[in-house]
Amino acid sequence: MATNRRTLLKGAAALAALPIGLKAAQAGAQSTPAATPGGTPVGSPSAPLVVGTPEASLEVFSWWTSGGEAAGLDQLFAAFSAGSPSVGIVNAAVAGGGGSNAKTALQTRLVGGQAPDSWQSHLGKELQSLYVSPGYCAPLTDLYAEQGWNDVFPQGVIDQSSVDGVPYVVPVGNHRGNVMFYNKALMESNGITIGDTLSIDEFFTAADTLQAAGIPAVALGDRDSFAAPQLFENTLLGVLGPEAYTALWNDPSQWSSDGVTQAIEAFARMLTYLNPDHAALTWDGAADLVAAGTAGFTSMGDWAYGQFVSKGTESSIGWVTHPGSAGSFVTVIDGFTLPVGAPDTANASNWLRAAGSATAQTAFAPYKGCIPARTDIDSSTFNDYLKWSANDLTTATAVPSNAHGSAASPQVQQAIFDATIAFIVAPDTETYRVTIQQAAEDDAAS
Ligand code: GAL
Repeated sequence: MATNRRTLLKGAAALAALPIGLKAAQAGAQSTPAATPGGTPVGSPSAPLVVGTPEASLEVFSWWTSGGEAAGLDQLFAAFSAGSPSVGIVNAAVAGGGGSNAKTALQTRLVGGQAPDSWQSHLGKELQSLYVSPGYCAPLTDLYAEQGWNDVFPQGVIDQSSVDGVPYVVPVGNHRGNVMFYNKALMESNGITIGDTLSIDEFFTAADTLQAAGIPAVALGDRDSFAAPQLFENTLLGVLGPEAYTALWNDPSQWSSDGVTQAIEAFARMLTYLNPDHAALTWDGAADLVAAGTAGFTSMGDWAYGQFVSKGTESSIGWVTHPGSAGSFVTVIDGFTLPVGAPDTANASNWLRAAGSATAQTAFAPYKGCIPARTDIDSSTFNDYLKWSANDLTTATAVPSNAHGSAASPQVQQAIFDATIAFIVAPDTETYRVTIQQAAEDDAAS
């Protein structure tokens, strides 16, 4: 591993021979943080190449390449660099929302014994199935004790960070997945008032109004494979409520309920209001449509707020929970791992110490659009969006996301992704429902 990395880091000549993921790593390597939310995202692929000597480098693998994502990641890098100024950071981010491309590239590396020093993982099933069970992750029990993390991360987050009671990931931020962002001026000019909550009926009334005015009500960027499944799971939650929604991920028979059929029908109706270019756009492109006022709403995780901040468009945006889902909080929590047999455990451990620190998480959150994973951070200085989210989390029912890997196995997640693509092309409610139920049953039996 050390020899390979040394070879890889030698320079431009080596770049031509690299797999795509590592080319992105080289192109995205950087060292200086953006100063304020909305500033230049220095972690973007056009940033200058800064590479330390192989023995003094840290390679961090993620899929954070959009404006807010790269800017947030840069804040974590800055926290690491403050303590390890001589260590060059190799930003191995692979573009593709939700990690669609990154996770595949990472598997190739892990299987081939080419683990980066640390990689991004969602908590829950994804961590367990893709990384801990195959033996790729080193336990973090000692680091948790040393850093006092057992006292500052909520127990539920520690549970999802752990397998059989052993922590394997350091959570950095807690995203809310069930947010409906909308263009405020567009609503106002069409006589639509969005209150503190939005029912499914209220949403469809607003959508009909926009449609009559020739405006796509729902912006979707389903070039990213997670985007439509996220719209679907948010709609499941909105129709079923948190208990029945959560039961879906634990009991395959729940997929045969009338509520599921109603949710699929509501989802099908939402798909009738889409931007015509939805298949060509990624999630951030869809969010940009809303910011520009060329579409009404986008149902997305609050990394979209980070995107608005990075583009300076956040003042045009309002937010409310996805229709029907007030009182529920779909948690999408990102963290970073320590590989078994890391080439440089000291650097990797220092990276995790930094990523789990209050300083890093305070700096990261406003750029990324999430709230810190730690509970000991004063949110009074946060922007209004983060305050709303942090406040809601204290009372809402937390539920997991399947679109973002926490709720079900990777097999069920993929089956729903595939079934959703098929449903968009040919919406047949019963086929969709039965296909998902079959996948859940097969998984439970395996
Ligand atoms: C999620 C991830 C977020 C955000 C989003 C879009 O899976 O947890 O941090 O990056 O994908 O890429």
